[in-house]
Amino acid sequence: MRGYKTKLGWSDVTPKPLWLNRRQIIAGGAALLASPALVRPASAQITAAASKYSTADAPNTLEDITSYNNFYEFGTGKEDPAAYAGGLTTDPWSVVIDGLVDKPGTYDLADLVKDQPLEERIYRFRCVEAWAMIVPWIGFELAGLLNRVGVQSGAKFVAFETLVRPEEMPGQSSPFIEWPYREGLRLDEAMHPLTILATGLYGEAMPNQNGAPIRLVVPWKYGFKSIKSIVRISLVDKMPPTTWNMLQPSEYGFYSNVNPTVDHPRWSQASERRVGSGLFGGRQDTLMFNGYEAEVASLYTGQDLAVDF
Ligand code: MTE
Repeated sequence: MRGYKTKLGWSDVTPKPLWLNRRQIIAGGAALLASPALVRPASAQITAAASKYSTADAPNTLEDITSYNNFYEFGTGKEDPAAYAGGLTTDPWSVVIDGLVDKPGTYDLADLVKDQPLEERIYRFRCVEAWAMIVPWIGFELAGLLNRVGVQSGAKFVAFETLVRPEEMPGQSSPFIEWPYREGLRLDEAMHPLTILATGLYGEAMPNQNGAPIRLVVPWKYGFKSIKSIVRISLVDKMPPTTWNMLQPSEYGFYSNVNPTVDHPRWSQASERRVGSGLFGGRQDTLMFNGYEAEVASLYTGQDLAVDF
């Protein structure tokens, strides 16, 4: 617990607004500014190694990444998560790991992530709505965690669930989605080194609107597969139900690999808009598997991707 906290320390960190207030209230010069109580603690920073899996593209700004979000637990508008997710309590946090595993249990987040090597992964992130961003995530490979809890031989899929806490998640008062938000991966997809559990971005603990304190990131799939604020990971033998597929199976398949040649029934997936590029920023061609074809195409050998969309 302590080891993780000294790295991440989200509960130890004075929220930025408070800290600014204190700085304003306490009149002072350089000596006061240098006082540890007044300077944002170094523990807010996450130290992570650079990754060979990072794209060379320049990341979107922190402002773009934290102000244009999909997180229906806080509303359906792109600005709702930034406006309402601040009230989500993310510490303490625990994750249930169950199903076909050797070491099922309710894991405290700190225990869950301990010993998992953190990397900065600068990934392309492509939403099914045809916008895209470049995000410098901080995270670790899901495979590392699955290996630690011991995947049993009958397991074929991994199912994920998000927190249900309507008192802190105002969007959950709407029955539009059958809560919890659910997602799933085939076991080989979950074990792929590109698949990470992210606990931060831009070198700091995950902003609430981006899925604090821990969320999935699967960069070759449409963004909705990257489930936020995870409280349950289950190893199962059958393809699990997933939120968007439950809502509209003809539009959202289980796989949801980014594929410019398979259009959404209501719009093309051939191109995308880079968030933050401005009205005249132009569109870019969408890449097969979002540009990760060399790494992941072999997972789907023999599958018709227009059928398994
Ligand atoms: N996870 C939960 N629990 N609830 C959601 O509404 N939205 C998904 C995904 N994960 C969503 C979620 C969708 S549609 C996208 S595009 C991404 O989160 C957006 O992630 P971002 O806000 O960090 O860019």
